[in-house]
Amino acid sequence: MEKLGGKIALTAGGSALFSPITFRSLALQNRIVVSPMCQYSAEHGQANEWHFIHLGTLAVSGAGMLIVEATAVEPEGRITPGCLGISAAAWRT
Ligand SMILES: Cc1cc2nc3c(=O)[nH]c(=O)nc-3n(C[C@H](O)[C@H](O)[C@H](O)COP(=O)(O)O)c2cc1C
Repeated sequence: MEKLGGKIALTAGGSALFSPITFRSLALQNRIVVSPMCQYSAEHGQANEWHFIHLGTLAVSGAGMLIVEATAVEPEGRITPGCLGISAAAWRT
């Protein structure tokens, strides 16, 4: 068992999965990455309480990296109306 950021993480003997890795200036505690997952829950492209809980839970899970779901740069680029947008403040649909 190894302590990671206040959480207890299981370590497997010799597995690279649980060893640190660095990409230029980005240092990860381990090699577990949570894939981006569309939640279809955004309103007008904006994140809400669902995203806060969903991503917050995963952020403290012990994974080395968490990737946020597909995020459109303009409304027409979304997969569905429930997808996130980068500059969503003025989006109406
Ligand atoms: C429900 C669901 C939602 C997903 N949403 C996204 C997304 O928003 N952006 C993205 O790049 N990939 C998305 N993916 C793809 C996953 O991030 C991942 O690449 C895919 O599930 C393959 O993972 P694997 O190679 O570990 O099997 C989604 C996958 C699933 C099952």
